Amino acid sequence: MIDHPLAQAILTTLRNRDTKQIEFRKGLVRLGRLMGYEIVKSMDIENVEVETPLGVKARGVRIRDLDHVVIIQVLRAAMPLVEGLVKIFANARMGVVSARRVEESHSPGSLDFDIEITYVKVPRILGDDTLIVADPMLATGSTITAVLKHVLKYGSPKRVIIASVIATKYGIERVLREYPFSEIYTVAIDPEINERGYIVPGLGDAGDRAFGSQ
Ligand code: URA
Repeated sequence: MIDHPLAQAILTTLRNRDTKQIEFRKGLVRLGRLMGYEIVKSMDIENVEVETPLGVKARGVRIRDLDHVVIIQVLRAAMPLVEGLVKIFANARMGVVSARRVEESHSPGSLDFDIEITYVKVPRILGDDTLIVADPMLATGSTITAVLKHVLKYGSPKRVIIASVIATKYGIERVLREYPFSEIYTVAIDPEINERGYIVPGLGDAGDRAFGSQ
C-alpha cells in the first residue's frame, strides 16, 4: 500500500466525479512517478565511493536493479501511469499488451470475465529483470492474470510487480493464488466490485476518464 499523503491526495482527486479529463490523466502520471519511488525503495542498493571536484572521497549508493526493468503497459488505462513510471525507470525496456474484457462473458453470481488479448509486443525478459506490469484498476484480477500468462512467455524475471492504483481483496487474492511470487503495489484497496465488474467506490472507468471517451 502506498500510503504517502501525496498519493492519497491525488487518488482523492481521481475519485472525484468532477475531476476533468486532463487533471485526471495528469493525476495518473503523478501516481506513476510516486509508485516508481516506492518500487525503488525495495531494490537492492550497493555502497559506492566517488571523488568530488574537491578531490575528496564521498560515500554514496548505486541501485543495481534500476537499469534492469521491463515495464508492460496494459492498454489503454495504464498509459499515463507508465508515463510517470518511466520518469523513474528511464532506461526501462517497454512492452504493450492490449486486453479487453468480454462483457458478455460475465455470468450472474460470478465476478470473473473472459479476457480477449488482441496485441502483445514484449521485449525479451532476462533473469535479472524486474518486471512491472501497470494496470491502474485491479478489480477481479481477470485482466492481469491473462496478461501475465502471455508476458511470462518472454522470460522469467527476478521480480514481478503489479502497479495498480485501486485494487480489491478479491483481485489481489486471485493474482497471488495464480502468481504467488508477484508483488502488488496499490494506492488503495476498495471493498466491492459491482455486477458490471467496476470497483466500488472506485473512480469509474480509468481509460474513459483519462482519454475523454465514453
Ligand atoms: N476498470 C476500470 O477502469 N474501472 C474499474 O472500476 C474496474 C476496471
